[in-house]
Amino acid sequence: MQDLTQQLESLVQGVPYRTANLANASALLYTSLDRLNWAGFYLMEQDKLVLGPFQGKPACIEIPVGKGVCGTAVQEDAPQRVPDVHAFPGHIACDSASRSELVIPIHQGGQVIGVLDLDSPETERFSAEDQAMLERFVRVLEREVFGQDSNE
Ligand code: SME
Repeated sequence: MQDLTQQLESLVQGVPYRTANLANASALLYTSLDRLNWAGFYLMEQDKLVLGPFQGKPACIEIPVGKGVCGTAVQEDAPQRVPDVHAFPGHIACDSASRSELVIPIHQGGQVIGVLDLDSPETERFSAEDQAMLERFVRVLEREVFGQDSNE
């Protein structure tokens, strides 16, 4: 998997629009990485995750904290690398083609404020190296997108 963090930095640096930045980030991931069927964001609203910018088929709108792979990543404040979603208790099947999944929590001010979610139609699509790269990708978003005051 190619390291995309530099491309992300040049896309989002100095851009004061959160939705635009997350839309471009999801498009960068979806068009650069192979064997994906979904790439995007869920963001915390009140006490639940709500669908944000993404690429792929239409997806479920709300995910309670603690539910599914995304809600588990928020509850545990830990990345979830799931080699076979059918073996993950409570997995939420937005797209029946999904077989493996990688979810990385996003932080602002020490709190989890959302997740990056990648789905693949292949089991065991995501390696530990992929996870490390996507964690660096999210650190850039935290600094350049969620570290700003004036973006919506
Ligand atoms: N599978 C996720 C739901 C979101 S979709 O994959 C886009 C989950 O179990 O949280």
